[in-house]
Amino acid sequence: MSITAVIGGQWGDEGKGKIVDLMSREANMVARFQGGANAGHTVYRGQKKIILHQVPSGILTDDCKCIMGNGMVIDPVELVEELKMLDEEGVNYKGWIHIAPNAHIVTPVHKYIDYRNEQKTNKKIGTTCRGIGPAYVDKYNRCGIRALDLKDFKNLKKQVIKRLDLAISSGQIPADDRKNILEEIEIFLINSKSIIYMLEDTFSMLHDMVSCDKNILIEGAQGTMLDVNHGTYPFVTSSSPSSGGITTGLGLPLTKVNRIVGIFKAYTTRVGKGPFPTELDDNNGEKFRKHGKEFGATTGRSRRCGWFDAVEAKYSVQINGFTEITLTKLDILDHFPEIKICVGYDSNGVKTKQMSKFISNLSQVKPIYKTFNGWNRSLVGISSYKDLPQEAKEYIQFIESFVKAPIRIISIGPGRDEIIHLD
Ligand code: IMP
Repeated sequence: MSITAVIGGQWGDEGKGKIVDLMSREANMVARFQGGANAGHTVYRGQKKIILHQVPSGILTDDCKCIMGNGMVIDPVELVEELKMLDEEGVNYKGWIHIAPNAHIVTPVHKYIDYRNEQKTNKKIGTTCRGIGPAYVDKYNRCGIRALDLKDFKNLKKQVIKRLDLAISSGQIPADDRKNILEEIEIFLINSKSIIYMLEDTFSMLHDMVSCDKNILIEGAQGTMLDVNHGTYPFVTSSSPSSGGITTGLGLPLTKVNRIVGIFKAYTTRVGKGPFPTELDDNNGEKFRKHGKEFGATTGRSRRCGWFDAVEAKYSVQINGFTEITLTKLDILDHFPEIKICVGYDSNGVKTKQMSKFISNLSQVKPIYKTFNGWNRSLVGISSYKDLPQEAKEYIQFIESFVKAPIRIISIGPGRDEIIHLD
């Protein structure tokens, strides 16, 4: 039996989709524990690229139960869209997706508040406008709508309209928009009805799997630096994408989890606003974007790009307790004659290797870099560690020793077989 968690080590978009896709081939169950339609996990079915937002990636594996856990905020309208896409792709999902009754629900009112919040302020977070923050606000304010509330149709409608009117009276939404949002609420209600059959006691399902020694994969979304507790607050998402979120978001103690795999890109990217010490505004940044095809899977926004930040990575290892690391997109560094890794921060002459020291004023720090020689050749076709160029091995070994966690898998291309396993 193995319970494996896959967690984003940076600011999201580390390539978790591919790794989860690979690992879910062996899984009897894949469970999501936080976030919602803000995620975009790119997976492949044969040659066909599929982007999943809410449905766990295990849906592409035969006989794999997919759990949408209590820590998620689920958008029924987006979910129905995703199911339509799965239908078109011929994916058999009926009976395989199970929603926790105590997961919270994103309504059109949440999405509208999110959108308005982003529009009317000059301190934008750069959210995905999927209603994530407002839905979690209602959850923690103890006035949210849970999946189990979808069953009481009349009351559901009343609750959503009451929330809309509260948003209008408190100035969160202009009264002029009421009519349009009411129309969206009608669509929301229809879609909500159609997913009720997925509600299940997922807690028991999960723990039955645990006691039967089955393979369970826990699929994180976003990344550690977007964690509402440990990330670059307030430029974060509203959940805990780090391993700590598993316990509350699924009701599964971390002591049951055998492997906690941290996914890191071989460089760094970020979408949305917020500090990013190694960000590059030069040709190298453009090169990362071009070769790495760095555009968001959910919003299509172009990603900010920069060098690998080992100070950030070490902080992430400390938070998550990664038992191993997967390093993705190493092949993108093929294009760089010289490669840098951030090994410290300098804030007005104060130097540190510990991110927590400056986590609240990260925009002020200047990265201290160590420079490595590039390998100046393509990694395409390499399937074993020993065949990697010496420069690539040095890059990998340096990261391992700095962050104090072993790198076990390296990804060198989008294809499923473009993977190197390290012993
Ligand atoms: P929200 O999660 O939509 O509220 O957005 C909050 C912040 O998290 C913004 O900077 C988003 O760009 C970022 N974010 C949310 N989901 C993802 C993701 O899946 N990948 C990368 N960034 C994300």
